[in-house]
Amino acid sequence: VAAGAAVAVVVAVGLAACGVSTTSVTEAEFTNELAIPPLAESTVNGGVRTFDLTAEKGSTEFPGQDGPTETWGFNGSFLGPTLRAERGEKVAVDVANDLDEATSVHWHGMHLPATMDGGPHQMIDPGQTWKPHWTIDQQASTLWYHPHPHGKTEDHVYKGLAGMVILDDDASADADLPDEYGVDDLPLIVQDKSFDDGELELSDDGAEPGMLGDTVMVNGTIGGVQEVTSEKVRLRLLNGSTARTYAFEFPDRSMDLIAGDGGLLDEPAEVDRLRLAPGERAEVVVGFTAGETVRMRSAEVDLGGVAVPATMGGHDSFDVLEFRAAETLTPAPEPAWSPSSHAGDDALVEAEAATTRKFELEEREINGERMDMSRIDEVAYVGDTEVWEVRSKQPIPHSFHIHDVQFEVLSVDGEAPPVEMSGRKDTIYLEPNRDYRLLMRFEDFADPTMPYMYHCHMLLHEDEGMMGQFVVIERGQEAEVGVPAGHDG
Ligand code: C2O
Ligand code: CU
Repeated sequence: VAAGAAVAVVVAVGLAACGVSTTSVTEAEFTNELAIPPLAESTVNGGVRTFDLTAEKGSTEFPGQDGPTETWGFNGSFLGPTLRAERGEKVAVDVANDLDEATSVHWHGMHLPATMDGGPHQMIDPGQTWKPHWTIDQQASTLWYHPHPHGKTEDHVYKGLAGMVILDDDASADADLPDEYGVDDLPLIVQDKSFDDGELELSDDGAEPGMLGDTVMVNGTIGGVQEVTSEKVRLRLLNGSTARTYAFEFPDRSMDLIAGDGGLLDEPAEVDRLRLAPGERAEVVVGFTAGETVRMRSAEVDLGGVAVPATMGGHDSFDVLEFRAAETLTPAPEPAWSPSSHAGDDALVEAEAATTRKFELEEREINGERMDMSRIDEVAYVGDTEVWEVRSKQPIPHSFHIHDVQFEVLSVDGEAPPVEMSGRKDTIYLEPNRDYRLLMRFEDFADPTMPYMYHCHMLLHEDEGMMGQFVVIERGQEAEVGVPAGHDG
């Protein structure tokens, strides 16, 4: 026993010395009914659908933890309601800040004007209400919303400020996919947390890529159980964690991947395992058999055969959610897939790319610079197609996110991308030292004074400066961006 303990100490010290987190996930007891975030109420007036969100402090009692702990949420004590709208709809959100500090709310994956984007330039002071509005102009997809205050995003998201957005359109309605919210169409916000004496604790101990919690929750439920009443269930997976990457799988069955970040794939793809980095989403359809109980788990994350330090946000395997199928299940129709699932989105054509830009991520910097709210890093023109070449230039992965656009992945190290990357995306896991070529077009919303962001979605990295700003302008316009008073990060 003594010898074993000595070895364990040596290993722990060795890992700590490389700044690698040693936190592994504790297996939960799967006995708690999975919480389903409510669908947000809205009112329609003069053709505009308006939602209300209030960022507020609360307290939450998590099962298995000692007593309630302070958490933050939208319209409640933890997480927020699911916003749902249709393509073509005019939407508005009244976002009130009842916290003691400024925050912002970013619509992750949404194509909308930069002034409505909710990044670090659209701060909401305590007691204030911010009223963005826009027209939904993109395909059906699973997006999300979360704060984006420069330097504090990790803290605000970690405390519980996050929610899902579901966009619908005709093509997805015609696809005969499971679509009964909370029944056979499940929002799954997956996050890892740590507790210290029952209090939610954010501490990364200087580890890369940030804090890896020992407790995994889905929609705020630790050890969640979901009853299944139909043969096929659609899972809308959102990695809302600050640093952890997951590799979701079932022990005994594959999943049909139907959508990535930005909407339906050209055709469903059978996958055994699905890797999701912080910020990424995917929709899968999973089949169940009457009477069975099965758990979705997260396997050890495959970093693409690239040599990386031992624990990089996912070298750990654990169960995530239990499904219990009823004795009789509603039969599910075969999805009626139509190639028109991208209807209304013009194809992206690489040959039309006007500009190629390179982004190298290393040591909290992108192309050698840390985020500066008053510096414009890139200027793009309305209507232009561009190629962005992105690379993690160090032996750790990153999760690269671009605001405003949904891009296509052209290649990874010159090879065709894996099927998981085949749809439109806004966030991509960068395996270390590989080249990712992304194709996108800046459709509209010229604004020389307000930038969009691109950044690593591992939130510690983002907060510490791994972020840049781009403006979209018309040719002939000059970019000029100021820093809002009192919010210079
Ligand atoms: Cu989900 Cu710039 O963020
Ligand atoms: Cu990163």
